[in-house]
Amino acid sequence: MKAWRAGRVLFGLVLLLPALALGQTVASDPVPGDENAAVEALLARMTLEEKLGQLTQYRGRGSDTGPRVPEGGEAQIRQGQVGSFLGVYGADYSRRMQQVAVEESRLGIPLLFAHDVIHGFRTIFPVPLAETASFDPGAVENAARIAAVEATAHGLHWTFAPMVDIARDPRWGRIVEGAGEDPYLGSRMAEARVRGFQGGDLAAPDTMLATAKHFVAYGGAEGGRDYNTVDVSERTLHEIYLPPFKAAVDAGVQSIMPAFNEVAGVPMHAHRPLIETLLRGQWGFDGVLVSDYNAIQELMPHGVAATRTDAGLLGLEAGVDIDMVSGIYLEDVAEAVRDGRLDEAFVDASVRRVLRAKHRLGLFDDPYRYSDAAREAAMTLTPAHRDAARDMARKSFVLLKNDGGTLPLSKRLRTVAVIGPLSDDRRQMLGNWAAAGRPEDAVTPLDGIRTALGPDVRVLHAEGAEIDGDDTSGIDEAVRVAREADAVILMLGEDQEMSAEANNRTTLDLPGVQQRLAQAVQATGKPVVAVLFGGRPLSVNWLHENVPSILMAWFPGVEAGNALADVLFGDHAPSGKLPVTFPRNVGQVPIHYNHKNTGRPPDAKDKYTSKYLDVHWTPLYPFGHGLTYTTFRYDDLRVKTPRIGRGEAVDVEVTVINTGRRAGDEVVQLYLRDDVASFTRPVKELRGFQRVTLQPGESRTLRFRLEPEAMALLDADLRPVVEPGTFTVFAGGSSAETIETTFEVMAD
Ligand code: BGC
Repeated sequence: MKAWRAGRVLFGLVLLLPALALGQTVASDPVPGDENAAVEALLARMTLEEKLGQLTQYRGRGSDTGPRVPEGGEAQIRQGQVGSFLGVYGADYSRRMQQVAVEESRLGIPLLFAHDVIHGFRTIFPVPLAETASFDPGAVENAARIAAVEATAHGLHWTFAPMVDIARDPRWGRIVEGAGEDPYLGSRMAEARVRGFQGGDLAAPDTMLATAKHFVAYGGAEGGRDYNTVDVSERTLHEIYLPPFKAAVDAGVQSIMPAFNEVAGVPMHAHRPLIETLLRGQWGFDGVLVSDYNAIQELMPHGVAATRTDAGLLGLEAGVDIDMVSGIYLEDVAEAVRDGRLDEAFVDASVRRVLRAKHRLGLFDDPYRYSDAAREAAMTLTPAHRDAARDMARKSFVLLKNDGGTLPLSKRLRTVAVIGPLSDDRRQMLGNWAAAGRPEDAVTPLDGIRTALGPDVRVLHAEGAEIDGDDTSGIDEAVRVAREADAVILMLGEDQEMSAEANNRTTLDLPGVQQRLAQAVQATGKPVVAVLFGGRPLSVNWLHENVPSILMAWFPGVEAGNALADVLFGDHAPSGKLPVTFPRNVGQVPIHYNHKNTGRPPDAKDKYTSKYLDVHWTPLYPFGHGLTYTTFRYDDLRVKTPRIGRGEAVDVEVTVINTGRRAGDEVVQLYLRDDVASFTRPVKELRGFQRVTLQPGESRTLRFRLEPEAMALLDADLRPVVEPGTFTVFAGGSSAETIETTFEVMAD
């Protein structure tokens, strides 16, 4: 027996078990109406090779005149050997390639042009983790909308975003691409981004297919090492990692990308129970599954396929419709299908889904609707788009600390020093996955501060150190500059490359000699404000203990410098909240707010409790933390109906008062705990949030409705159930500072 067959039998058994446990049937693939008729008519005319061509995606190549199809690509389009491209765009060029497909190939099926449009296309917004810190789904939806408007004008139909992976390990470089550690917040952001990219009508020329990725548990990579094995319980999978995907599916996401990792010994690109049974069957997802980059081929090093053919068959059987870049579907499976090793029905099902996507985008009506040079010229990097990016950046900054009201700084200072390796580097501001973003578009912190302060204030600048590396020779100059100033703004942090795919770190400290730079500058005795750039939590203990004000700026995008100046000098107040816990050091990882209590919760007086010898068990900054230029008090948290029946909702009210002297925005957070249940529950879980603006002295009573789903846990069969008993409701401005009350769910 061939290796593939042996593997297949074993796989069949392994894969069937969880499916049986869930009591599900394999998904059928019905499509009603015209769309179906059009797709079926086309399918009936296709050769096997043409079908496999539709399931093949190649990557473009850069050129002096923009991204182009690879060598030989045009001939492949003509021969019907490719259905989509990654990283090929430009209104005129995509129109030309589309013309080859539509007018010169036998069946005239239009191409799909896809790209990673992650946080903006040309107008680069803050990185996704930063956008999430806004706790403002409306603003996040708008950012995705603008990205789609720009990208589609350049001929793109499809983005490989949003990344909805929950990440509890800041060592993992891709934490920057997602919405942080919390499944509730992650779900709200997933929906917002799907709505933003896809709009209300997929066939409109400015909407595109969104892709929820990477299905699933990619953020659970052991050791935070990208691509690594994931070993996760079924309960954690369903409670933590799956919900944002479910939210994306419910929001109508049209595409999903499986993850590079395995789950319970099965690589996700071959995972029939999770793809076929859960995603397509139980959730009713009828869109396209696109493999991750070369991941069909990677079924071989995973050790579940001996040959390219075996890998291709596993992918097709699992329902991975499109093979990104490996070429296996096109080159290595036709013969196996003819030999009967794979039922052609699997191929047909995938082709249907691809054609349906093209149909839904309106490409069969007008294949050129997205390639519009006039729109491209009019809709790229517009002032309105830049304004939105600036607004989003301001909302994403998190004020970690502000002793003595050091921030905002006065605009009437005589001399300001801007010091640090991130002061004046345009590329850094864009962050990773910057699509068609260009460094020259970006406003650096130094530019922004100079513009904001005008000619009457002296703005001095020194790099002081590189981002990474051990050269300390610039520190003296930085100290000299600091001595001349009335206030110093330190621009410190990571290189944008450090939080990205395949860029993982074993420390969360400031890289290189930046802390030494900060120490030397702080020793001058001048007022110092630290602005941090990074795509992950940073363990900045020394800064926390020694510098009065710290602002987490992430990678803010093209308007970085302007947005920073707006906030540093008080024209706007920062109002972001942390979407992820900042540990005191990397040894605390994993550390997330929604942990379990354990039988021995940490207790300083009791040795035999769950904690460390050398570091306190609490984080440096908790999930949900973020200050602003005023202060808020929470009062009068009450439940309208303290006793409810199962299946009933509860209305909760809390009053928030602005107790400071400035107007400000607060993100009011609502958490819930099921106090005693048949399975252990997290100490608290986010169940709602609202952003409010309050004038000094103003108070507002906010109402949250907790539906039964918010109270449910998963029973032994992983079905949601509300158990009778008491629940604690918490409200506050961070996960660690809350007031609380209770309600009771009565037995039937
Ligand atoms: C990443 C995906 C991305 C793809 C295409 C892969 O390396 O994992 O997230 O969409 O490349 O660029």
